[in-house]
Amino acid sequence: MEDITFKSVFIAIFIGSSLIIAALIFNAKRPAQETEQPKAEFVRSTGKCATCHRKETSAVVHQFERSRHAVQGITCLDCHGALEGQEKQAHRGFMIAKHLTSKNCSQCHATEYDQFIRSRHAAPAWAAVLGKQGFTDEQIAFAETYHKGAVDRAPNQLASKEGQSATDVGCLGCHDIGKPNADGSIGTCTACHARHATSIALAREPETCGQCHMGPDHSQIEIYHESKHGVLYNAQKHDLNLKADPKKLTTADMSIPTCATCHMSGLEGLKVTHDTTERLSYWLFAAVSDKRPTYQRGQDAMKETCLKCHTQPHVDRYYQEAEGVVQATNVKIAEAEKLMVSLRKEGLLTPAPFDEAIEFLFFDLWHYYGRTAKHGAFMGGTDFVQWHGNYELLLKMTEMKEIAAQLRENRAKK
Ligand code: HEC
Ligand code: HEC
Ligand code: HEC
Ligand code: HEC
Ligand code: HEC
Ligand code: HEC
Ligand code: HEC
Ligand code: HEC
Repeated sequence: MEDITFKSVFIAIFIGSSLIIAALIFNAKRPAQETEQPKAEFVRSTGKCATCHRKETSAVVHQFERSRHAVQGITCLDCHGALEGQEKQAHRGFMIAKHLTSKNCSQCHATEYDQFIRSRHAAPAWAAVLGKQGFTDEQIAFAETYHKGAVDRAPNQLASKEGQSATDVGCLGCHDIGKPNADGSIGTCTACHARHATSIALAREPETCGQCHMGPDHSQIEIYHESKHGVLYNAQKHDLNLKADPKKLTTADMSIPTCATCHMSGLEGLKVTHDTTERLSYWLFAAVSDKRPTYQRGQDAMKETCLKCHTQPHVDRYYQEAEGVVQATNVKIAEAEKLMVSLRKEGLLTPAPFDEAIEFLFFDLWHYYGRTAKHGAFMGGTDFVQWHGNYELLLKMTEMKEIAAQLRENRAKK
């Protein structure tokens, strides 16, 4: 008995290790070409660029092969060719552009580009950090007609204070979605679509927006994941048709909204838009949130989206409650703002920003907690209205009052 068991174990080990060794030898000998076949459902790209780059930067080629572009016969050079105003470089017998911008995409997607440059994702995003520098007079005038004061402005004071490397790698890592390009175009399309996958399914993923729309100052992705929409999305995303043609998107494709559905999609006959401002009614990012000049139009457009899935009373009640949170938050921020103005008037603070502790406290108060409360109310983030929002507002206001009292007491002593 024992002898047999020993033998079979020995044989099993022998066969097992032979298989592993064989697999290692086979793998080592397999040419790179063979392991790099695209999956059956993807198009295999050909041509000189693809053939050589399959060896040089194969991931790029595989990404391209899963795109609609590959299906439709768009070539590498269709994007990589240099356009007017773009620096050229000779490359393996071809002339290619040194840098690609939204201009290369707009050759074939002018409608999306025209909508995009009207949005706050374009010039306003860049100007929020560096001000109007880098934009032409025409670009400034154009952006100002849609977003007054959003581009014709000075560089951000916090960015100036933190220094160039913090600004370039930090702030602009998100805000370069609206960069002024040397070829006269603005911004990048690849922030949401990626360079080679150029996918709408990717752009409809909440995480894509969450690359930038995250953190305590704009917690949209965190709020989304806490909302019923986000919970359902995470549970059911594999049943959704994220690839559906934007012009024919129905609730059968996506019965659960992602960021894109509410802010961009043409759900059931609505108009698709790359202008993410179109469906908004307040400036929620502001310290005190006023109604936008396009308040009614914006709110009607967003509600129209909700109404594809919900009833009117449900949506109206939701908006009424959210607007209530905006008003209440405005009152709290205004109180804090008044305290700051008065401390400055009394000469207890320097006129310079971000050089005294209470200024950071005030900044956190509106920039983190005030915003979060408002965003939470509009996008289903209860915890963000309460514990990350109103509770912190109360706490920071109490701390501000204590510091103010201390400053006044110190002066009285002098
Ligand atoms: C014979 C091989 C070969 C061919 C053909 C080829 N490339 Fe390349 N490509 C390379 C290699 C290698 C690199 C790495 C950088 C270098 O050596 O130039 C590269 C780099 C690049 C880069 C990055 C350039 C940079 O400045 O970082 C781009 C973009 C590119 N290739 C696009 C293309 C396109 C588009 C085509 C077809 C029009 C093409 N390549 C044809 C081999 C090739
Ligand atoms: C839809 C447009 C588009 C198509 C089609 C396209 N590219 Fe690109 N590619 C880009 C963009 C955008 C970049 C980023 C360039 C930049 O920042 O200047 C890029 C970058 C690259 C780079 C540099 C990548 C890196 O990370 O270093 C290579 C190499 C490249 N492309 C090769 C190719 C090849 C090969 C093909 C065809 C199989 C191709 N591209 C097709 C848009 C495209
Ligand atoms: C030479 C023309 C051309 C260029 C340049 C081009 N595209 Fe396209 N694009 C197309 C065509 C054609 C389609 C397919 C339309 C269809 O299938 O209905 C398409 C489809 C798309 C789609 C929809 C993909 C999907 O998943 O259904 C996106 C997103 C897109 N392009 C983004 C871009 C971006 C971003 C760039 C620049 C980096 C770009 N395109 C450059 C022609 C182009
Ligand atoms: C992680 C990405 C990210 C980083 C890093 C970032 N921002 Fe933002 N910023 C955003 C997003 C997203 C918004 C939109 C917030 C909203 O509307 O709720 C925004 C909004 C703003 C606004 C308000 C909008 C406006 O036009 O006035 C300003 C100002 C701003 N950012 C400046 C900065 C500065 C300055 C830095 C660096 C010190 C910075 N941001 C770093 C993503 C980022
Ligand atoms: C903020 C993210 C974002 C940016 C930036 C962006 N897109 Fe899109 N794009 C999307 C989303 C989301 C969709 C799908 C909309 C929907 O759900 O119907 C889309 C759809 C598209 C489509 C398919 C449209 C159709 O009707 O078939 C094209 C083409 C496209 N984008 C091109 C571009 C181009 C070109 C740019 C740059 C000018 C760009 N996108 C910038 C998010 C973005
Ligand atoms: C690369 C970073 C980045 C990505 C990715 C991104 N955004 Fe933004 N978004 C910003 C910045 C920065 C702002 C603030 C611009 C400003 O007001 O100055 C902004 C502002 C907005 C606004 C407010 C516009 C307004 O008028 O106030 C909405 C809505 C928005 N984004 C939605 C989206 C959606 C939906 C997606 C994904 C499909 C997305 N964003 C992807 C960076 C990004
Ligand atoms: C169910 C629909 C819905 C979903 C899903 C949704 N939003 Fe919103 N979003 C809204 C509404 C409603 C508002 C407030 C509109 C107003 O001002 O009237 C808003 C406001 C915003 C703002 C604030 C703009 C400002 O004024 O500061 C940004 C930025 C934003 N959303 C981005 C996102 C991102 C990113 C996601 C996904 C992580 C997302 N939204 C998911 C409905 C939605
Ligand atoms: C694409 C469809 C779709 C869109 C668009 C949409 N929702 Fe929803 N929403 C849903 C689904 C599905 C549920 C879960 C409903 C259920 O459990 O029966 C839900 C749940 C909710 C809930 C939670 C209800 C509860 O008590 O469980 C609220 C609140 C809500 N949505 C508000 C909105 C608002 C406001 C908008 C527009 C800004 C909106 N939704 C846009 C599909 C959508």
